[in-house]
Amino acid sequence: MPLQFPEYIEKLKPYVAGKPIDETKRELGLTHVIKLASNENPLGPSPRAVKAMSNGMKTLALYPDPAGYELRNKLKKREKVEFDNIVLGNGSNEIMELILKSYTQPGDFMVAGSGVFAAFPISARIQGVETLFAPPQLDMSFNLEAMLDLVKKNTRVRVVALPNPNNPTGVAVSDDDLDKFLQEVERVRDGSVHVILDYAYYEFVDPRKIKNPIHWFKKFSNVSVLKTFSKIFGLGGLRIGYGVLPAELAARAQKVRMPFNVSTLGLIGASAALDDHLFVKKTLQLNREQMKVMSKFYQSRGIPQLPSQGNFILIHTQKGVGMWGQQLFEHALRQGVITRPVANYGLPEWLRVSLGKPSENKVWMKVIDEVLKQQRGKQVSKS
Ligand SMILES: Cc1ncc(COP(=O)(O)O)c(C=O)c1O
Repeated sequence: MPLQFPEYIEKLKPYVAGKPIDETKRELGLTHVIKLASNENPLGPSPRAVKAMSNGMKTLALYPDPAGYELRNKLKKREKVEFDNIVLGNGSNEIMELILKSYTQPGDFMVAGSGVFAAFPISARIQGVETLFAPPQLDMSFNLEAMLDLVKKNTRVRVVALPNPNNPTGVAVSDDDLDKFLQEVERVRDGSVHVILDYAYYEFVDPRKIKNPIHWFKKFSNVSVLKTFSKIFGLGGLRIGYGVLPAELAARAQKVRMPFNVSTLGLIGASAALDDHLFVKKTLQLNREQMKVMSKFYQSRGIPQLPSQGNFILIHTQKGVGMWGQQLFEHALRQGVITRPVANYGLPEWLRVSLGKPSENKVWMKVIDEVLKQQRGKQVSKS
C-alpha cells in the first residue's frame, strides 16, 4: 500500500529561502560572496546578545525554561501588555503557525493580499487552510477593500494575514487605512475573524508614518501582533520571535506549541539584545543612510523601485535593465552577489535586494552599472 498524504500537503510548495553564502561559494568556486538576499542585519548580530550567549553556554546541558519567564517579562514591560499575552516562537514564523494551529481547522480560509510574505500561505496550507488572495492596488500595496470583501463573503474565513510593511514589496499600509479596515473586520461575524499583523520590520519604519502596532492590539479584540529578533537585532540564525496575542488565543497557542520551542541561547540572546540600544541605533542609522543611497542610485539609473519601509528594496529589473529578476539574479550570483528573485510571488520582472553595508552596496551598484553598460553597447551595435 503506497503512503497516502493529505491533498493539501501534496499541493504545498516549500518556502524558497535566500541562497546561502557557502553554497554559492561551493557551486561557483568563488572565495568572496556578498548576501543581499534575506533582509538580514549587515552589521551582524547584536554584540550584547553574543556576549550573553557565550556566558550562557555553560548551562546548555539543561533544557530551557519552558515558560521563557525572563524574556516574556521583559517583553511585557516593553510592549506594555500582560505577561500572558506574550508568546515566544522559533522565529516569528512559528507564531503564525501556532495561531493557525489553535484557531483554524482544515477547510477554513485565510485572507491575504496577493504578494503576501510567503510563510503565511505556507503555514496556512500545512493546517489544511487555503488562502484567498485579494489582487493588489496599482501601486502594489494591499487592497484592503478587496480583502474586506473576501472576509465578508466567505463565512469560513477565520484569519487575515497582514504583514506591515510587506515583504517582498516593502510597502506599508497607512494607519488610517488600517484603522478603517480593522474596524470593519472586527464587526464581521462578531469579531471571530482574527487579524495577524506581522511587524517584522517595524523598527525600520518611519515612526511619523506608522503607529506602534500594539495600539491596534489594544484597540481591537481580534488582533495579534508579531515581532522578530531576526532583523533589527541581527539574530536571524538564532530563530526567535514573539507574538502579542489576546489572552484566550495566547493560552491556546501555549497549549499547541512544543514544550521547548525556543532554545536556551535564544532566550538569553533575545533578552540581552533588547538592551542593546547602541546596536539598534547603529543599525537604524545605517539602514536610513543606505536606503537613501540606494533609492537615489536606482532613480538615477531609471530603475523603477517600490517605496520601501523595510531594509530592502524591490526593483523592476525588466524595465530598469531589460532582464527578468531571475536573469539578473543569476548574473549577479556569478559576480558573487546573492539577491532574491521573486517569481514565486508572481513577480518575475522584479528582484528584491537587501540593503547591505556601504562596501557591499557599492559592489552591487557596480554589477548593475556593468549590466547597463553592456546593454548600451548592444543597443549601439544594433543601430
Ligand atoms: C514579513 C516577514 N515576517 C516574518 C519574517 C520572518 O521572521 P522570523 O525570522 O522571525 O521567523 C520575515 C523574514 O524575512 C518577514 O519578511
